[in-house]
Amino acid sequence: MFDEIAKRYDLLNHLLSLGQDYYWRRVMTRELGIKAAERVLDLAAGTGDSSIGFLKTGAQVVGLDLSINMLKVAQKKIADPGFAVIHGSAYEMPFHDRSFDGLACAFGIRNMHETPRALSEIFRVIKPGGRVVILEFSMPVGWFRPVYRFYLKNAVPAVAALFSERSAYEYLGDSIGKFYTPAAFRKLMEDAGFVNCRQIPLSFGTVYLHRAERSR
Ligand SMILES: C[S@@+](CC[C@H](N)C(=O)[O-])C[C@H]1O[C@@H](n2cnc3c(N)ncnc32)[C@H](O)[C@@H]1O
Repeated sequence: MFDEIAKRYDLLNHLLSLGQDYYWRRVMTRELGIKAAERVLDLAAGTGDSSIGFLKTGAQVVGLDLSINMLKVAQKKIADPGFAVIHGSAYEMPFHDRSFDGLACAFGIRNMHETPRALSEIFRVIKPGGRVVILEFSMPVGWFRPVYRFYLKNAVPAVAALFSERSAYEYLGDSIGKFYTPAAFRKLMEDAGFVNCRQIPLSFGTVYLHRAERSR
C-alpha cells in the first residue's frame, strides 16, 4: 500500500495534519535527545521526514522500511552522508543486538500488527541506556472524539481521493480506531522490557509521543 502512495505521501501528510506533522516531529527529535555522532534507527522511516530532524543534531541515521518506493523518496530528499536506508522488516531487523543509541518510529507501529514482536525487536537493537520514541495516532477522549471520528471517516478520504489512493486513507482512519489506547500501549512497552515510559499527548490527544528507555 505504501509503495502506491509514496509519491504524494508528504503532500498529504502536511495537508491532512494541517501542518501539525512538523510540530510532532520536532517534539519527537527533542524527546529522543540524541547527541552528535550517536547512531539512530528511524524505524519505518518512510520518506525520511523524521530522519531529517535527527540528522540536524549531527546523528548518524539509518532509515529502515518495508516499502522500497517510500525509501526512494527519502533518498531523493536527503543527501546527507550520515544517512543510509535499508529495505527490511521491523520484525527481523538486519542489525546486531545493541546497535543503536536511539530509535524512533513515527506512525509506523500501528501498521505492525504483531506489535509485541516489533517491540521486542526494537528492544533488542537498542543499547542499554538507549532511548526509544514512538509517535503514533490515537483516538482522543471527550468532546473532540466525535469531531475527530467524523474528520477521519469523511474529510480524510475525500481530500485523499483528490491527490492519492482513497482506500489507503480509509485504512488510516480504520487503523487509528483499532490501535491500542495509550494505557494499553504503555503496558506493551513495559512487557517488552522498557522502563521510564512517559507519554505525551499532542494536538488534543490525536497523537501520542511514547518515550521509554532500555535499562539493561
Ligand atoms: C505511515 S508511514 C510513516 C512513515 C514515516 N515514518 C513518517 O513519519 O512519515 C508507515 C511506514 O511504515 C512502514 N512499515 C509498515 N510495516 C512495516 C514493517 N513491518 N517493517 C518496516 N516498515 C514497515 C511502511 O512501509 C510505511 O513507510
